[in-house]
Amino acid sequence: MPNLIIYEEKKVEAKGLNSNNKINQEKLKSYFFEDDYQNLELLNKISIPFEKTEISLLYPGCGTDILFPLIYLDKLFPQLNKANLTFVDEDNNLGMIKTILDEVGISFSEDKSQIQFHWNHKLITLTFVMKKIENHFSELQSYDIYFEKAFRIMRDYIFDYENKILSKLNENGVIISDTGFENQNLKQITVSKELSSYKEMIIGLKKEIKN
Ligand SMILES: C[S@@+](CC[C@H](N)C(=O)[O-])C[C@H]1O[C@@H](n2cnc3c(N)ncnc32)[C@H](O)[C@@H]1O
Repeated sequence: MPNLIIYEEKKVEAKGLNSNNKINQEKLKSYFFEDDYQNLELLNKISIPFEKTEISLLYPGCGTDILFPLIYLDKLFPQLNKANLTFVDEDNNLGMIKTILDEVGISFSEDKSQIQFHWNHKLITLTFVMKKIENHFSELQSYDIYFEKAFRIMRDYIFDYENKILSKLNENGVIISDTGFENQNLKQITVSKELSSYKEMIIGLKKEIKN
């Protein structure tokens, strides 16, 4: 039987930046279904030709999911020392995200809808935008990494979604998605489809493919 994940938002104080944050691995594990947690091991086999040490990342329809993107960054981009994350969701999930960080032992500083924290030797700046992504396209800055998980049904209703996402992705930027993008002009990296609950996992680089 799958384990139960309990999400209970708490009023969490911003305790400030702490470069000595120690992640409570047991608590972290409690935020994952066992299969999903085990499947993260599949990321260890993936190598992406990407050398930047500072990146920007967009995650639309993020919900309360802070841990998957952080672990993907750890495993796929070990050279990183700075990451600027833009999370976009129509619901305000920042409170739950802060609760999760606090519970796993990460203290953060806070300024309105932005929080900053150290995660495994990386300085993370997370900006939470409470909006529908389709109403935010025109304001989006370009990004190096696009991250998507469990957003397939919602984004199917958004006209020309993938092209809009790709138009703001930097050259040599990376798409990490559990669905779609298979017909786009991306240099695809071999990944296990098991990483997606739809079995449609894709990681691809925005590069000109020469035949
Ligand atoms: C199924 S949840 C997935 C959450 C998260 N990605 C995860 O894997 O746990 C879908 C999320 O998309 C958000 N959402 C739905 N339509 C949206 C839209 N048009 N723009 C931004 N967020 C949206 C919902 O509020 C919800 O948090």
